[in-house]
Amino acid sequence: MTAQKAGLMAHPARDLAGTLRVPGDKSISHRSLMFSAMTIGESRVEGLLESQDVLATADAMRAFGATIDTDAHGIWHIHGVGIGGFLEPQDEIDYGNAGTGVRLALGLAAHGDFVTRFTGDASLRSRPMGRVLDPLRLMGLEVLESVNDRLPLAVRGPTRPAPMRYEVPMPSAQVKSAVLLAGLNAPGETTVVERVFTRDHTEKMLAGFGADLTVDTAADGTRTIVLQGQPEFKPQSLLVPGDPSSAGFPMVAALIVPGSDITIEGVLMNVSRTGLITTLLEMGADIVIHNERQSGGEAIADLQVRASVLKGVVVPAGRAASMIDEYPVLAVAAAFASGETHMEGLAELRVKECDRLAATAFGLKVNGVACVEGKETLTVTGTGGAVTGGGIVPTHLDHRIAMAFLVMGLGSKQGVAVDDAGHIATSFPTFQTFMAELGADITPFDADARVA
Ligand code: S3P
Repeated sequence: MTAQKAGLMAHPARDLAGTLRVPGDKSISHRSLMFSAMTIGESRVEGLLESQDVLATADAMRAFGATIDTDAHGIWHIHGVGIGGFLEPQDEIDYGNAGTGVRLALGLAAHGDFVTRFTGDASLRSRPMGRVLDPLRLMGLEVLESVNDRLPLAVRGPTRPAPMRYEVPMPSAQVKSAVLLAGLNAPGETTVVERVFTRDHTEKMLAGFGADLTVDTAADGTRTIVLQGQPEFKPQSLLVPGDPSSAGFPMVAALIVPGSDITIEGVLMNVSRTGLITTLLEMGADIVIHNERQSGGEAIADLQVRASVLKGVVVPAGRAASMIDEYPVLAVAAAFASGETHMEGLAELRVKECDRLAATAFGLKVNGVACVEGKETLTVTGTGGAVTGGGIVPTHLDHRIAMAFLVMGLGSKQGVAVDDAGHIATSFPTFQTFMAELGADITPFDADARVA
């Protein structure tokens, strides 16, 4: 599918203002649909992120046999088939751009002796799937067709799924989750060990749906998760909190556009996701956390963000997992700070929707911001608020590269264009109207016309 490129340009903005809610969290939305598909009876999900990535998961769960509808109030109703009840999908499942969706669904494809075929867009087809296929093979999944463990691929689940103990070799919630999801239909104990604490939505939601699961954290931070296989899931009513990764874009926009004062309501504050807020506060950001409360088993809060004078900081590798999707927009904040911001432990950025480390460094440079891209590090030389802009940033099918550099344009002197913003719809389909409501001016841009 070759869609026409949809470029956008963000023009220098005046004081952003307003009180808004970001759409539902993407990680929790995927899991809400998947877990509900394994209950018998009806689950309801409110606040689901209705983005391309999550809609792909809805289609995948339908392909596995679940019935999924929405009502006039935007509530999603899922009638599941029970653990062990998945059917063989009739057609290939096209996961588009959604890495989380396909990796977790591979865990579900290991539930029984049936064949599932997955494909995706050019970005997803270039991303490594071996990191989930390796442990799933140990649990009995057979890869029937694939080149270099990339999509498109065909897999056959085992006749008798086997539980196992697996130590996740890289900090990845997707790998952890794929193993745990496969373990749901294996008799006995599936154990996952992670040395680095990654987002824990799978563990929390598994317990919420009725799984017997324990998590032990050792003195050095290593977590051992033990799941008893073949539980009976109970239907749930879920409320999805606002996505902190999406909130990062308007937050940084408000920090770098002088005179801004915005509030984002109902943002997920799970500590495995708040590394960007911690870092921005260290940089001197004026962020006030209001009305901290619990919702659906998660901490949420309203975030008031005002324009701030930022200073460069060192962002330690140990924080990377809690802000892994936020580095492009942090780099934008760093470009407006005074002094250097040095970010460590960024190896995983190389295998996101694109090589995000390289794409971020390129976007900074093309807009007049000096930076040094290391193998796993990025050092940004802040401009003290004087980013020139004027560049056209290639987004490489990556929604977060697009949004981060549009945010940069709002605080820059000349504005910033991105060559293709179509993929913003994978995670934050309302980004443009959301930003417009705050007062941002983001308009269509034809990169080809400019080059010609
Ligand atoms: C996610 C985990 C992270 C993150 C992704 C969502 C999840 O990926 O980048 O956007 O929902 O489990 P990794 O597990 O590859 O770090």
